[in-house]
Amino acid sequence: MKSKFHIFLLLFCIFNPIHAADKIPKSLTLNCGSANGGEDSDGRTWEPDDKYLSPGSKTVIAKAETQDPSLSSDIPYMTARIFQSETTYQFPLHNSTSPTLLRLHFYPNSYPNFNISTSYFSVIAGGVTLLQNFSAYLAAEALSQAYIVKEYYLPPSEFPNLNVTFNFEPQRSSGAFVNGIEVISAPIFFDEDPVLVGSAGPANDFDSSTTVPVTTTSMELMYRLNVGGQFIPPTNDSDGLMRSWYDDSLYIYGAGQGVAVQANTTIGYKSLPSYTAPLDVYGSYRSMGAFKDVNINSNLTWIFQVDPNFMYLVRFHWCDSEMTKPNQRVFDVFVNNKTAANEIDIFAMTNSISTPMKKDFVVRVSNKTSDDAQIWVTLHPTDDTKPEFFDVLLNGLEIFKLSDNTKSNLAGPNPTISDMMKKYQEEHKLAPKAFETPNNQPNASTIVITGAAGGAAAVGIAAVIFLVAYNKQKRVPGADSGTSWLPISWNSNSTTTTKSGKSQGGVTISSDAASNCRYFNLAEIKNATKNFDESNVIGVGGFGKVYKGVIDGDTKVAIKRSNPSSEQGVNEFQTEIEMLSRLRHRHLVSLIGFCEDNGEMILVYDYMGKGTLREHLYKGNKITLSWKQRLEICIGAARGLHYLHTGAKYTIIHRDVKTTNILVDDKWVAKVSDFGLSKTGPNMNKGHVSTVVKGSFGYLDPEYFRRQQLTEKSDVYSFESCF
Ligand SMILES: *[C@@H]1O[C@H](CO)[C@@H](O)[C@H](O)[C@H]1NC(C)=O
Ligand SMILES: *[C@@H]1O[C@H](CO)[C@@H](O)[C@H](O)[C@H]1NC(C)=O
Ligand SMILES: *[C@@H]1O[C@H](CO)[C@@H](O)[C@H](O)[C@H]1NC(C)=O
Ligand SMILES: *[C@@H]1O[C@H](CO)[C@@H](O)[C@H](O)[C@H]1NC(C)=O
Ligand SMILES: *[C@@H]1O[C@H](CO)[C@@H](O)[C@H](O)[C@H]1NC(C)=O
Ligand SMILES: *[C@@H]1O[C@H](CO)[C@@H](O)[C@H](O)[C@H]1NC(C)=O
Ligand SMILES: *[C@@H]1O[C@H](CO)[C@@H](O)[C@H](O)[C@H]1NC(C)=O
Ligand SMILES: *[C@@H]1O[C@H](CO)[C@@H](O)[C@H](O)[C@H]1NC(C)=O
Ligand SMILES: *[C@@H]1O[C@H](CO)[C@@H](O)[C@H](O)[C@H]1NC(C)=O
Repeated sequence: MKSKFHIFLLLFCIFNPIHAADKIPKSLTLNCGSANGGEDSDGRTWEPDDKYLSPGSKTVIAKAETQDPSLSSDIPYMTARIFQSETTYQFPLHNSTSPTLLRLHFYPNSYPNFNISTSYFSVIAGGVTLLQNFSAYLAAEALSQAYIVKEYYLPPSEFPNLNVTFNFEPQRSSGAFVNGIEVISAPIFFDEDPVLVGSAGPANDFDSSTTVPVTTTSMELMYRLNVGGQFIPPTNDSDGLMRSWYDDSLYIYGAGQGVAVQANTTIGYKSLPSYTAPLDVYGSYRSMGAFKDVNINSNLTWIFQVDPNFMYLVRFHWCDSEMTKPNQRVFDVFVNNKTAANEIDIFAMTNSISTPMKKDFVVRVSNKTSDDAQIWVTLHPTDDTKPEFFDVLLNGLEIFKLSDNTKSNLAGPNPTISDMMKKYQEEHKLAPKAFETPNNQPNASTIVITGAAGGAAAVGIAAVIFLVAYNKQKRVPGADSGTSWLPISWNSNSTTTTKSGKSQGGVTISSDAASNCRYFNLAEIKNATKNFDESNVIGVGGFGKVYKGVIDGDTKVAIKRSNPSSEQGVNEFQTEIEMLSRLRHRHLVSLIGFCEDNGEMILVYDYMGKGTLREHLYKGNKITLSWKQRLEICIGAARGLHYLHTGAKYTIIHRDVKTTNILVDDKWVAKVSDFGLSKTGPNMNKGHVSTVVKGSFGYLDPEYFRRQQLTEKSDVYSFESCF
C-alpha cells in the first residue's frame, strides 16, 4: 500500500512540476496544443499546456488549417488540443483562499481528422458545469466571430488545485477541444450581497428589499463595457487581470444615444481597490447632454441579450468628474423596467468630485416576460429633488450570469438568431429595402435564419435591424452613381479632394505595415494579370482600373492599378496600405500586398467573387438574394464598421460608406472596403475630428456636412442610408 502511494507521489511530482518550483505563479496562460508556447501580438507569453493534463489522457494536438484574417494574434488560436476521451486539467492554485478567473479560448476552424461542426462538449470546473452540449462552431457562427472567449469567476474553494474537465458523448460528438486557457488568481470582486431588483416593497421601500448572497457563487461574464469610451485591451487592464473592456455604443437602444465624454480631471482610485476596473473606465462616460427639457422626458437605455432562467448580477461603475456639489446630477436606475435605485447622486455618495465607485444589483431573467431573454438597463434624471442639471451618468457596466446554487450550472443553450429575428419581424413588421424579396413582396414565411446568436451578437443584430427598420427613408435616390464592380471604390473621385500629387514613388510605409503585407514587384503583377489584359478588367473608376488576377498559382486576387493621371495620389495610396494592413477582420476586405515599382502604385486585395452589395439590391440584378443572405450582409457590414469604430487600436471613421463599398465574397460574406478616405478618429479629449468634408453625397451625415466635425455616427448615418 505504502509503496503504491510513493509511486503515486512520484508520478504526481513528475506530472506536476509545480512542486519543484517553490512558488505557484499568480496566473497561468496556456497555449493549448503547442509544443513551445510563445508570445502573442500584445507581448503576453503563453506556455504549453501538456504538463497540466492528468496522466493517461487521450488527446492529440492539432494545427488550425486556416488563419482567419480577424485573428489579432496566431497565439493561442492556431494550435488546439483535441480530447478523444474525458480529460481533466489539474491547475495548481496560487492562493487557495482567492477566487479564480478562468478564461477559455476556442477557435472553431478546421483541424485535421476532426469534424468541428459535430463537436459538442461539456466543461466542468471545480464542480460547476460551465458549458454543456456546447458547440464553439455554432457560437462563432452566431456571433459572426472567428473565435470565442468565455470567462468565469470561480469563488475560493479550499482545494489547492482547480480541476477543469472536458467531456463529451462519443455517439453524438466528434470530441472536445480548446485553444487557450487562462487561470488567474483574482481578488475577491464580490464582497457584499446585492439587492434583488423588483423585491422592494410598495412605494419602493428599499429597506425591505431582498438581497442575494453572491460571495460564494460561480459566475460567467456576459458583458464588460467601458461606457462612453474605447476598447481597453487585456494588457491595459488593472492589476494584471487581463480583462477586455468593450465600447458600449452597439448596445444603446433607440435614437437617444446621449453623449460620450472624456473626463477633464485627474481621477485616482481613492478608497476603491484598483482591481475593480482600470482608470480609463472611470475617465470616460456617457451622459444625456446639455438639454434639460429634452433629458427630463428621456431615458438612456442599453439592451443586452442573455440566456433565460438565470439570475444576473449587473455592476455599475460610476465616477462623476464634473459635479462639485450634491443635487446637481441625480438620476434613477431601472433594470428590466423595474426600479433598482432612486435618486443616485454620485457626488453625494462619494462626497467628492472624480471619485470612482461601483454598485451591484441582481435581476432574475425568466422566460415568462415578453422580452424573455434581455436585460434592459435604463437611466432617467430624477425630477423629485429638482437637481441643477437633469442628467444621468454611466462610466462602466458589467453583467455576470450567476450559477444556480442547487444545480451548480452556468451552461445555457447554444444560441440562435432565429428567435430574435422572428420576434423583430413580428414587432416591427420589418420590410426595409435590404430585406425585401426581389419582387417587392416581403414574405415573412420565407425567412429562415439558421445559425445562432448569443450575448454580444444578438444585440448587435437588434441594433442593426432597428436602424434599418426606422431609417430607410433617408436615402436620396440616384445618389449612388457607381455601377461598376469595384473592389475599392475608385469612383469616389467625384468627392475626393486630394491635394497631393501623382505617383512619384515617394511612398513611405511604416515597418508595421510592411511586415503585415506583402510586397510585389511589377513583373509579378504583370504575370498575375496577363500584362494588364483588358479581359481581366473587373472595374473602372476615376482612379484607374481594377483587374482580376491570380497569384501563387491559384489564389484569386483583385488588383487595383493607379491611373498615372489620377488625382488620387501618394497620400491616399499610403493611407490605404497603412489602414488595411493593420486591420484584419472577417468583415473588412483584406489587403494582401502592394506594388510600388517603376512609377506604378498598385494594391492587391482578396478577390470578392460576388461583387458589390449595390448590384444585388437594385433592379436587374443577376442573382436573387435570399432574406437570410440580405440579413447576413447587413449584419456583416455593420460588424465591419463597428470593428473599425471600436475594435481596432484606434477609432477609424470610414467616411465613405455606401453600397458600392460593401462587397460580398464567394460565400456571401459582406466586407467593407475603401479606406482611402478613412481618418483615425476621436482621440482623447475631443468627441470628433475636424476635417475637410469628404464622402459621397446622399450618404453624407448632414450634421457632419454642417459642422465639418466627424464622428463614428457619420458612418452610421451613411450605413443606414445604404438600406
Ligand atoms: C490569498 O488570498 C486572500 C484573499 O484574496 C488574501 O487576503 C491573501 O493575502 C492572499 N495570500 C497570499 C499569500 O497572497
Ligand atoms: C462533419 O459532420 C457533418 C454531420 O455529420 C457532415 O455533414 C460533414 O460532412 C462532416 N464533415 C467532415 C469534414 O467530415
Ligand atoms: C482533481 O482531480 C484529481 C485527479 O482526478 C483528484 O485526485 C483530485 O481530488 C481532484 N481535485 C479536486 C479539487 O476535485
Ligand atoms: C494601453 O497602455 C499603453 C501604455 O500605457 C498606452 O500607450 C496605450 O495607449 C493604451 N491603449 C489603450 C487602447 O488604452
Ligand atoms: C474641461 O475643463 C475646461 C476648463 O475648466 C472647461 O472649459 C471645459 O468645458 C471642460 N470640458 C469638459 C468636457 O468637461
Ligand atoms: C421594458 O419596457 C418596454 C416598453 O416600455 C418594453 O418594450 C420592453 O419589452 C420592456 N423590457 C423588459 C425586459 O421587460
Ligand atoms: C423610462 O424607463 C422607465 C422604466 O422602464 C419607464 O417607466 C419610463 O416610462 C421611461 N420613460 C421614458 C420617457 O421613456
Ligand atoms: C420556460 O422555462 C420553464 C422552466 O425552465 C420551461 O418549463 C418552459 O417550457 C419555458 N417556456 C418557454 C416558453 O420556453
Ligand atoms: C445540443 O445542441 C444542439 C444545437 O443547439 C441541439 O440541436 C441539440 O438538441 C442539443 N442536444 C442536447 C442533448 O441538448
